Amino acid sequence: VSFAHYAKRLMNEDQVTTIFGCYTSSSRKAVLPIVERLNGLLWYPTVYEGFEYSSNVIYTGAAPNQNSVVLCRYLMDTYGKRFFFVGSDYIYPRTSNRIMHELLRGNGGEVVGEIYLSLRARREHFTTVIRRILDASPDVIFSTVVGDSTIYLYQAYAEAGINPKCMPIASLTTSEAEILAMGCDVGNGHITAAPYFQSIEGTQNNAFVNAFRSRYGANEVTNMCMESAYFQVYVFARALAQVGSMETDVLREMVLGSSFDAPQGTVAIDANSGHTDLWTRIGRANRAGRSRATADPATSGSRRGCRPGRRAARALLRIPRIARDAPEPDAAFGQRAQRELGDQEGAGGVGTEEVVLLGHVPPHRRRHGGPVRLLVALGKAFEGDGGHVLVGPLRPDVEAEPGGHAEADDA
Ligand code: ACM
Repeated sequence: VSFAHYAKRLMNEDQVTTIFGCYTSSSRKAVLPIVERLNGLLWYPTVYEGFEYSSNVIYTGAAPNQNSVVLCRYLMDTYGKRFFFVGSDYIYPRTSNRIMHELLRGNGGEVVGEIYLSLRARREHFTTVIRRILDASPDVIFSTVVGDSTIYLYQAYAEAGINPKCMPIASLTTSEAEILAMGCDVGNGHITAAPYFQSIEGTQNNAFVNAFRSRYGANEVTNMCMESAYFQVYVFARALAQVGSMETDVLREMVLGSSFDAPQGTVAIDANSGHTDLWTRIGRANRAGRSRATADPATSGSRRGCRPGRRAARALLRIPRIARDAPEPDAAFGQRAQRELGDQEGAGGVGTEEVVLLGHVPPHRRRHGGPVRLLVALGKAFEGDGGHVLVGPLRPDVEAEPGGHAEADDA
C-alpha cells in the first residue's frame, strides 16, 4: 500500500514522470497500476519472475528464461536432480519456483521439498527449515529467500555443518551484499546466477567498481541490482539528452532498442518488451565474499569429498533457436498461437500465460511495435505482433545454446 501511495504522491503532487526503483516484485506490482494510469515510466532494476509486460516499465534485471534456465542446467549437471525449494512468501519466489519446477520436471528432476516463510522470518525459523532439508536430503537447495532473512538461511545452514560442495544453496538473488552481511565464510561455496558480479573483468566494470569504492569506501561491494540501477540511469540520461523531453511516450520510444556498455557487458533494451538483453553468469562465492563467474558452468566446481553414487544429470535443457531469417509476424499470430497452445494443453502439459518471458529480438528487428501482449508457451517460441520472440522452459527438440546465454539468433 505504501509503495502505491508514494508513487501516486510522486506523480500527482511532485510532478514526477520517471521513477527509478522498487526492489521486490510485490512493490513493483503495487506501483504498476499507478504508473500505467498516470502514464509514468518506471525503471525496475531487479531480477524478477517474468510474466509481465507494461509499456510503462523498463525492466533491466534478468527474467527466468535468462537465469533460471541456465541455473537449473548447471545445478542438474553438477549436483543432481533432487531440489529443495525454500523461499519468501510472495509473488517472486512462488512464481520463480513454479518455473524452476517446470524446468526440473521437464528434465527428469524432482522437487523433494518446498517451504515458504514470511519476508520477516527470524533466525529461529530457519532451524526448522534446515531440519526439513536434511530429512529430505536433496542434491541442491534452491533459495528464493529474499531480504534480511537470506542471511539467517545461510547462517543456519553453516551452523548445521553442511558442506556447500555437496549440497549448495543456489539462488538468483543472493548477491555480494547479502554475502557480506551474512559473513564471507558463511557464503563461501554457495551459488548465484546473475548478470553481474563485482569480479567481472573489463574496463567498464573496473571503472564502475573503482568509482563506487572511492565514493562509498574500499570495503563496500557492488552487486547485480546496483549495476542494473546504475546503467539504467545512463540509458535514461542518454535518451533524455536526445529527445529533450520527460514525456513518457517520447522518452520510452528513444530508450527502446538502445544499447549500452554496462559493467556486465553490452546490454540492450528490447524494443518490443522493454526488457533487457543481458548476460547471465553462474557465480560461486569465495572466502573473500566475491562470486567468481565460472568460465564454463558445466565443468567447473569440484565435488571431492561428497558422498558418492549420485550421478549428475546430463545437459538436458535446451534453448529454442530462432532463425535469423524468421518470417515477419503475421496479424493472425494471436489466434494461431492460441489455437496451437490450446491444442497442446493437456496433451504435453504445456501451460500458457498471457505475458512476456523475454526472448531475444535480433537487432535488425528492434523497433517499437507498440504495446504487445503475447502468449508464452512453456517450451515454445513464437513470433508475435511487433516481431517479438519468446522462449519459455524448454523442450528437448531444439538445439541447446552453448554457454548458457539465452540469446538465440547468433549461432
Ligand atoms: C524480486 O522480488 N523481484 C526479487
